[in-house]
Amino acid sequence: RKHILGLQDLSKDELNIILNQASEFKRLAAIGETKLTPLSGTVVANLFFEPSTRTRVSFGLAAKRLSADTVDFSSSGSSLSKGESFVDTAKTIEAMGVSYVVVRHKTPGAPQLLAQHLDANILNAGDGTHEHPTQALLDIFTIREHFGKIEGLTVTLVGDILHSRVARSNIWGLKKLGAHVIVCGPTTLIPSEISNLGVEVSNNLDDVISRTDCLNLLRIQFERQRGHFFPSIREYAHLFGMNKQRINKAKEDVLILAPGPINRGVEITPDVADGPHSVILGQVSNGLIIRMACLYLLHLQRTASLGIPG
Ligand code: CP
Repeated sequence: RKHILGLQDLSKDELNIILNQASEFKRLAAIGETKLTPLSGTVVANLFFEPSTRTRVSFGLAAKRLSADTVDFSSSGSSLSKGESFVDTAKTIEAMGVSYVVVRHKTPGAPQLLAQHLDANILNAGDGTHEHPTQALLDIFTIREHFGKIEGLTVTLVGDILHSRVARSNIWGLKKLGAHVIVCGPTTLIPSEISNLGVEVSNNLDDVISRTDCLNLLRIQFERQRGHFFPSIREYAHLFGMNKQRINKAKEDVLILAPGPINRGVEITPDVADGPHSVILGQVSNGLIIRMACLYLLHLQRTASLGIPG
């Protein structure tokens, strides 16, 4: 496979190969082998047309851990303001010897567009409301690390499903690996077509919480809301926010995930975000090794296709 555009495209076997490669990188890091050399002499470009902290920093660090050179591009301050197109901008950066392009864009399909026009391998770092494959991979890796499996688990994605690329990628990945997926949120934030993806839909968190192994608390994406937010923030926090009272209704070993950034006091209270069930910072750490695994496996494919020994 040349690109990582979404988990819709990846098979169960491919997902497991990435997860297992990430486990190997984690094992190596635990014995102090943090600096590896397979991407030495290559260049990874981070093209971010939307804000990011976790994805941007971890892709940059992942590339450095594999000894690639990196270039960082932000749309603000670039020649986009002079009218240069998205594809021309990417092709210009590619012409500086870039082999791997990590791209985040507000428009669904932007990474696929680059895949059509560039020779570089494209990694989707989040495209609008469509997919965020490496986020879902790190979520799934974190769940697998905790439970030792994905098959048979019940994972509930809570909140703003309508605007969530994280939800879509999680659904594709979790379903392929055998989890039961519940999407739970207000009717206004759950698109009707989501049930076509084979998920259970609920509008009442208190109805599903006791049979859930993992809760993935999605951020309310205020920046993608049109008009007024409904329900209100206060209503949302009351009906769907994760707090101590709700944790007490959950399984004893329930795992609390959040892709971040989190709105403390809205989808999660600080005591739960920082409490014993939360693996939010563990997800961030796992994001680094997942992105290393994605870059490394694409590099193996690229060198094989060019006839270069890996
Ligand atoms: N979860 C996530 O994609 O975070 P960033 O927007 O900070 O990269």
